[in-house]
Amino acid sequence: MDLTALPKAELHVHIEGTLEPDLVFALARRHGLTLPWDDPEELRAEYRFADLSGFLALYYDCMTVLRDGQDFYDLALAYFERAAHDGVRRVEAFFDPQVHLDHGVALAEQLAGLHDALAEAGRRWGVEGGYLMCFLRDRGPAPAQRLWQLAQPLAHRLLGVGLDSAEAGFPPEPFGPVFDQARRAGLHAVAHGGEEGPPSYIWGALDRLGAERVDHGLRCLEDPALVERLVTERVTLTGCPLSNLRLGLVDDMRHHPLSRMLEAGLRVCVNSDDPAYFGGYLGDNLEAVRQGLSLSDATMVELCRDSIRGSFAEPGRRAAWLAELDRALV
Ligand code: ADE
Ligand code: ZN
Repeated sequence: MDLTALPKAELHVHIEGTLEPDLVFALARRHGLTLPWDDPEELRAEYRFADLSGFLALYYDCMTVLRDGQDFYDLALAYFERAAHDGVRRVEAFFDPQVHLDHGVALAEQLAGLHDALAEAGRRWGVEGGYLMCFLRDRGPAPAQRLWQLAQPLAHRLLGVGLDSAEAGFPPEPFGPVFDQARRAGLHAVAHGGEEGPPSYIWGALDRLGAERVDHGLRCLEDPALVERLVTERVTLTGCPLSNLRLGLVDDMRHHPLSRMLEAGLRVCVNSDDPAYFGGYLGDNLEAVRQGLSLSDATMVELCRDSIRGSFAEPGRRAAWLAELDRALV
């Protein structure tokens, strides 16, 4: 079965995680910035990560080249082209504005570049979607609140809010008040949880943040009552297999917990997280689990179905894509 032909949504991709080494160098040249690596190959050679924190340090370093709206446009358009090639119809992408604000890029400018790219992707490839603004959990709730003050007048340009960055030691509950405000402004809420943090962080994301999806959610399997809750409430978990492998959460794709999650009745979809760093875009992630876990065509279609069911797309759009998936299996 040709997976690229299946309609699908990408619900867990950090737009800055699509920053390829060639673009890092092109943007550094554009802005006259000096990088600590001689060329893109030398940078790529750094992509061996011991854990999430090791990855995040390099990921934040590379972001220093994103300095204006045009950079965000170029970054996002390059990603949308790759996603369209993988059959992605809808993208709900994260971005980390706190880092870019530190570099003097205003939130409105970040959003202008991102939105222009999405509009162009719609015209060129029929890709639709929106952006999820993330709070960096390791900076704590006060900076998150300051970001929300900046974002509130621009809330109509956001699909939702998320919570990302280093997880262990940073539970979700302190971010409850800022998530309450974002949800009251009509935004969707999602949160990373159970990537490296314990199941209690997933409970907290659901109960205190009102998270409608949990990003990663791998460690829910350690808590049967949590699995039951996630199954009953049909909460989508946005899995990222190559990310898990590259960050050492899984030692081999043949041992990835995706199969166990599906067997438990969880709603899981496959995503790329930070594809420029982890060795593959959405299509590569789907192929990796198909081969590693010997998944059937029916299961591959089910994963695409879950991505669409878990998206915040308009119901009519979801129904049309689901009908297309039904036809793919006959
Ligand atoms: N930011 C970018 N990628 C991330 C990940 N996998 N987990 C948490 N924060 C992130
Ligand atoms: Zn992520």
